[in-house]
Amino acid sequence: MEIKNTVALVTGANGGIGKHYIEALRAMGASRIYAGARNPDTLADLAAIDPQQIIPISLDITDEQSVRAAAVECKDVTLLINNAGIGLLKGFISVADLSSARAEMEVNYFGTLSMCRAFAPILKANGGGAIVNMLSILGRINFPMNASYCASKAAGFIMTQGIRAELAAQNTLVIGVMPGTVDTAVSQDFPPPKVAPEVVAQEALQAVIDQVEDVYPGEQAKEMAAQLLKDPKALEKAMAMMLPH
Ligand SMILES: NC(=O)c1ccc[n+]([C@@H]2O[C@H](COP(=O)([O-])OP(=O)(O)OC[C@H]3O[C@@H](n4cnc5c(N)ncnc54)[C@H](OP(=O)(O)O)[C@@H]3O)[C@@H](O)[C@H]2O)c1
Repeated sequence: MEIKNTVALVTGANGGIGKHYIEALRAMGASRIYAGARNPDTLADLAAIDPQQIIPISLDITDEQSVRAAAVECKDVTLLINNAGIGLLKGFISVADLSSARAEMEVNYFGTLSMCRAFAPILKANGGGAIVNMLSILGRINFPMNASYCASKAAGFIMTQGIRAELAAQNTLVIGVMPGTVDTAVSQDFPPPKVAPEVVAQEALQAVIDQVEDVYPGEQAKEMAAQLLKDPKALEKAMAMMLPH
């Protein structure tokens, strides 16, 4: 699949990585880019770059009605980029209740699933296309300082595998993107190393072209993925050590 002349939809387009997806899609010649945001007014500057090419849409991925409306409005999509997500930096046991864990599941798992379900028939009608799910290396290993986020991204990882299997017959490529720390506002207090958001977008779109299903952008994610194959228990212990006592 080429990016040139694709019609893409990016969720969370007003976020740190979302903006770079839009830029990379533009640079690689996408013909139309639907930019989804809960508040499309936040996309005014982005859309002003090329109003013919970048079309802001109102989209809350946790709201079934909003997702359905997007599917009605964007029937020509061939590339769905599920980038929207939240991470609340909470533990499993140290929290007062389950509200943060539920909120992360609602956006990162159910919201992304809802988008895949709504757009699967559209991708099929348009020849197959591709879905890119923004996951995290933290969906492969727990980081106790952001524990329930990891669980929601792990659910997203398993979901991505299952959707890949279900959509293989309609020729839809399903990609999981698993960066380490990305240099955006949400990770400003995290220590280095950090991968640049433009690198994440570029590696993900290159994976669409090369048909690579599991993408680990940046050195940190690649090293952790290698460690998960070599010695997953050592990585688990190292992550646990980072929790202050
Ligand atoms: N930054 C990192 O270190 C890192 C590492 C690995 C993976 N990721 C993943 O990469 C993706 C983008 O992260 P980021 O760093 O760009 O974070 P960000 O700047 O906070 O962007 C997240 C985007 O998701 C949107 N969003 C949240 N809830 C939504 C909902 N219910 N419906 C629609 N949109 C919603 C936000 O929109 P609002 O403005 O409306 O809140 C925002 O545009 C996320 O899935 C994140 O988990 C990030």
